[in-house]
Amino acid sequence: MSYPFWDIEIGYGIIMAFIAVIHVFIAHFAIGGGLYLVVAETIARKKNYLLKLQFLEKLSKFFVLVSVVFGALTGVGIWFIIGLLNPAATEILIHNFVWAWAAEWAFFTIEICAALLYFYGWKKLSPKNHLIIGWIYFISAWMSLFIINGIITFMLSPGDWITTGNFWDGFFNPTFWSSLWLRTGICIMLAGVYALFVASRLKADEFKKRLIRFNSLWAIVGLAIMMPTLVWYISTIPKEIYDAALESKLTPVVAMNASYINAMLLGVVIIVFGFLIPKRYNIVVGTLAMIFALSWFGEYEWMRESVRKPYVITNYMYANGIDVAKAETYQEEGLHEYIQFKTSDKPADLFRRACRSCHTMDGYKPLKQAFDGTDEAFIAGIIMGTQAIRGNMPPFVGAEDEAQMIASHIYTQIDKRHLSEIYNLEGTALGKKVYDVRCGKCHVFNGFNDKSESLLEITEEDIGDILDMAGEFAEEMPEFTGDAQERKALIDYIMSLNKKETE
Ligand code: HEC
Ligand code: HEC
Repeated sequence: MSYPFWDIEIGYGIIMAFIAVIHVFIAHFAIGGGLYLVVAETIARKKNYLLKLQFLEKLSKFFVLVSVVFGALTGVGIWFIIGLLNPAATEILIHNFVWAWAAEWAFFTIEICAALLYFYGWKKLSPKNHLIIGWIYFISAWMSLFIINGIITFMLSPGDWITTGNFWDGFFNPTFWSSLWLRTGICIMLAGVYALFVASRLKADEFKKRLIRFNSLWAIVGLAIMMPTLVWYISTIPKEIYDAALESKLTPVVAMNASYINAMLLGVVIIVFGFLIPKRYNIVVGTLAMIFALSWFGEYEWMRESVRKPYVITNYMYANGIDVAKAETYQEEGLHEYIQFKTSDKPADLFRRACRSCHTMDGYKPLKQAFDGTDEAFIAGIIMGTQAIRGNMPPFVGAEDEAQMIASHIYTQIDKRHLSEIYNLEGTALGKKVYDVRCGKCHVFNGFNDKSESLLEITEEDIGDILDMAGEFAEEMPEFTGDAQERKALIDYIMSLNKKETE
């Protein structure tokens, strides 16, 4: 709470996704590549297979360049970004894991030195020493993963740390091992797919055939480790978190389903072109496999990041940097007095702290569209009920009059015409819009918190009564404040669904 707010126009989620995705791709490439190089070199040297050694030497250039230059740059970039986006959560990670970070940096330094020696040592070092350096490179890279894995999984499943505050409880948390083996599988798969990509450009001869099959084996072994460990990983995610994500059926579920399809596509490409017709593994196939592999990985990371919403550290800190333990105090005493860095615009400060870290007005997860054509009372009602909206938001951590202030702040920026005018609708089409805007955020027919039973099996008068009493059903549910035309359209719309159901 004692940090300034970084106010930029781009959505936070987008910036984070951009830098993090590049970094994790590269980091996992570097680890898998390390293993691939030393194993392939050992085999090639035993068989004195010169063509392959030449291929490996070329390949090692990429891995070294990538891990040294881009790995390091994007790694620092991530620190930069998370420190700006969520300083409070970054502080928790630093404080709790300071020795883990120190160890990680030590391993990274060893990794970099070994990588450089390995790359420049192909001709200058004896084969034995060259391989030893290669193993040092791989093992120190994997140890970095081991350590960072402890910290990343901590954010999703801090486990007993919440009560004990003990370093080891946080580090070896419930998702630690499943995630570690899953990521190791990903490293192996990525190494195979990348080696395939490079090999795809070779001319179609016997060497290519053998090399493509060898590389495909890596991709398939990686996939074979990834898929069961993914199921294991999901089973170790705290149940209440996972169930909440499933129920709202938004981002994490979409990401998950897409990732299954992608993994299947990748498997098919590898089996057909990698094993059955390896000479045909050309650059187009190579690029496709690469796209499938990276998309899969991106989708997995996207699921992992979104499944723990509304938290940044499960049960400990909300994604807007507010401590779960302090939420009640803020709700009783007001949030504003606890904000240390303020402007003179109180509503805008409150909006930033409470909503802005996850939403923009007009871009990423836009609020303007969600509220266009509504009124201040409705917006305030929604703010007081954010935890009932589908999509797993934190509760509003401020006092009621502060919700009012945020509502008027948002209201000044929305389209104030009536819904019928904004969207040029009438009749049941208008009614559907009214439902989507005023009810659908919390109740989806046949979906999230479905109210079909209560709404579709009653008379017109009863629906009217429900709208009159809307504010009394639940603290989180706002009153119906639409105008007479909207009210009538909404009732007609619900009645029209009603008829369809009975027919
Ligand atoms: C921790 C992040 C987070 C915070 C903080 C947050 N939201 Fe949300 N909000 C979400 C997510 C996630 C969704 C689900 C929609 C999605 O995934 O696109 C959502 C959905 C919504 C919706 C429904 C969107 C629609 O199109 O129907 C509204 C309205 C909304 N939020 C308003 C607010 C307001 C007002 C605040 C501040 C009081 C706020 N949110 C704070 C994450 C957040
Ligand atoms: C901010 C979220 C929110 C909005 C918006 C909202 N509701 Fe609700 N609604 C709730 C909650 C929470 C409850 C009570 C707990 C429950 O049943 O989930 C509830 C209860 C109800 C109930 C009675 C309980 C039942 O199971 O029969 C009905 C009917 C209902 N809502 C209809 C509506 C209609 C119609 C609208 C639009 C005019 C609407 N709601 C808008 C959150 C919301």
